[in-house]
Amino acid sequence: MKAVVYHKYGLPNVLEVKEIAKPTPKDNEVLVRIYETIVTPTDCVTRKGTPFIIRLFNGVIRPKNTMLGAYPAGEIEAVGKNVKLLKKGDQVFGSTGTGLGAHAEYKCLPEEGVVAIKPANMTYGEAAAVPYGALTALTFLRDKANIQSGQKILIIGASGGIGTFAVQLAKYYGAEVTGICSTTNLELVKSLGADNVIDYTKEDFTKTGQTYDIIFDVVGKSSFLHCKSLLKQRGIYLSTVPTLAIMLQMLWTSKIGSKKAMFAATSFSWSQKDLNYLKELVEAGTIKSVIDRRYPLEQMVEAHRYVEKRHKKGNVVITLEHKNQT
Ligand SMILES: NC(=O)c1ccc[n+]([C@@H]2O[C@H](COP(=O)([O-])OP(=O)(O)OC[C@H]3O[C@@H](n4cnc5c(N)ncnc54)[C@H](OP(=O)(O)O)[C@@H]3O)[C@@H](O)[C@H]2O)c1
Repeated sequence: MKAVVYHKYGLPNVLEVKEIAKPTPKDNEVLVRIYETIVTPTDCVTRKGTPFIIRLFNGVIRPKNTMLGAYPAGEIEAVGKNVKLLKKGDQVFGSTGTGLGAHAEYKCLPEEGVVAIKPANMTYGEAAAVPYGALTALTFLRDKANIQSGQKILIIGASGGIGTFAVQLAKYYGAEVTGICSTTNLELVKSLGADNVIDYTKEDFTKTGQTYDIIFDVVGKSSFLHCKSLLKQRGIYLSTVPTLAIMLQMLWTSKIGSKKAMFAATSFSWSQKDLNYLKELVEAGTIKSVIDRRYPLEQMVEAHRYVEKRHKKGNVVITLEHKNQT
């Protein structure tokens, strides 16, 4: 099968399209023929091997796992002998977890893993974006911050892969949402349901006089200390980016003070149940994916170059040739 591989950390051009062995499903696994997937900032930092902490998990000198991509969407081509819930021909989407390997024509997933039938009203690429952005946002907002109706939330990075879902989910939970983005994305963020928008190129969000129950810094452009005065009593600052500062602040604020700082590596707690919950929200028209661009698998280097500029709107989809293409 065709797959994107890399054998050294570095710039996007370390990525190569190669022929490698097609995987065979274990007894409890399904083999997914991938039609579309996405490239995320996590793929880019893993490829670069920076920050260094990544190398502690994936090899200090060179990558042990030579494949990237965590969000396959496609059709089941074969199933292991113990698989009961899914069958050949099912259209599915999901996450590989830390195993990665979705930037390829095929990927095996355990049937009890983070995999579900694709929402009927989404393309494969739109569906691939759901576990990434919506499961991450759901874990932070519902599980970490216990978001409640009537709360005020500020979302920094509201136009990105996670932010676009965070805006929609926060509205779904009844919060009053303020999204921070640049001028070109103001209309997009409003169209997703944000009550207020702040253009970070024109206004300093710390000087608006507003306070919030939750500040969700999706893109790591601020810090707990910078935002602390904007938090209400018992307010929570959430960050997706694992810096030393947020780790120490998380530890510190868990013991002292009413304002909390929190980071989480969310993919460890994702479940099939939550993926199906999000699928229902998609099919009800409550949440949708925002797609910025599409690249064929062969242009993975260009896709990484674009994603790592950190200005994508929603998601960047990778398309793979397949027999069912329309
Ligand atoms: N902890 C976890 O479990 C977890 C899980 C998944 C991902 N992550 C991490 O989460 C982060 C966010 O991922 P993502 O895919 O949402 O990012 P992204 O899509 O790459 O973010 C890009 C967006 O951020 C906006 N942006 C850039 N600078 C900004 C600023 N100063 N203020 C407000 N918005 C700004 C950009 O808008 P403009 O073009 O208008 O500037 C763009 O729309 C990544 O670092 C990723 O690695 C963490």
